[in-house]
Amino acid sequence: MIPDAPDSRDLLSFLDFHVAAGVDAALDETPHDRFAEPEAPRRAAREAAEPEAPASRAPPAEPVRAAPPRQEASRQEPPGQESPRQDASRAETPSTYGRSAAAAPGEAAGDARELAATAASLEDLEGLLARFESCALRFTAKNLVFADGNPQARVMFVGEAPGADEDRIGKPFMGRSGQLLDRMMAAIGLDRSNAYVGNVVPWRPPGNRNPTPQEIATCKPFIERQIALADPDILVCLGGVATQSLAGTKDGILKSRGRWFPYRTGRREIRLLATLHPAYLLRQPLQKRLAWRDFRALRTALDEGERQRP
Ligand code: URA
Repeated sequence: MIPDAPDSRDLLSFLDFHVAAGVDAALDETPHDRFAEPEAPRRAAREAAEPEAPASRAPPAEPVRAAPPRQEASRQEPPGQESPRQDASRAETPSTYGRSAAAAPGEAAGDARELAATAASLEDLEGLLARFESCALRFTAKNLVFADGNPQARVMFVGEAPGADEDRIGKPFMGRSGQLLDRMMAAIGLDRSNAYVGNVVPWRPPGNRNPTPQEIATCKPFIERQIALADPDILVCLGGVATQSLAGTKDGILKSRGRWFPYRTGRREIRLLATLHPAYLLRQPLQKRLAWRDFRALRTALDEGERQRP
């Protein structure tokens, strides 16, 4: 017997339910329970795709970057545009790294740590991330959102995770909160030629949901390596997720904002300033006065650092 076809109202309410639950991308015709996939086939697939395990790669013999003299903002190249996103063009490297997205939380973070440590440059790191498979977000995102701005800048801003605009364009802070961030930066003489911008999580969580603690833990070694390679003097964490994961505080952002934390890059100690996320400021415009205080403190710190340079 042929079952009754669902009527269009059933189908629409089924669709509504999924949209309300944050499902905004169709990936496949048939559902897959990745948690039910046994480890052995995944390991075999990984080994086949990965002739040289990342763990066995020698870490770069040289220090991460022999700090080049910083350039004047007006002479800097348009940054972050040279390296292709999610490209498969590096012929001699494996096409993917890590295990399937269903890896146990600790394993995925361990893979990330081993892999990130092998990156000798920001370009390397972006290439490794583009082929990293242990974070499920990469399979729902359109693009890897690695960075924008000038990697030679003295200040680096770190947000939480890309939204829809960033996912489409492949660069951080491109949408409404990015426009507000640009205005806040401009108010203290910064723009993307003299500041570098990244995110704790470089792929968009579907439906703009918050990244999970597991996703944050998996991606953290990459943002840490990105900071170490960019080697800014000052790190500005935008919002609670970036602050909690990089400053190592459990305090909420309304408590931690305006505070300076020490941050160890692995090469040296720099200063980390916590401030409010521009998306929060769009919802709570009165709080902009607090962010303005933080940005003025940032300007003062940059000016003082400039005066102290040899
Ligand atoms: N919010 C973030 O935290 N990062 C972006 O890139 C965009 C919005």
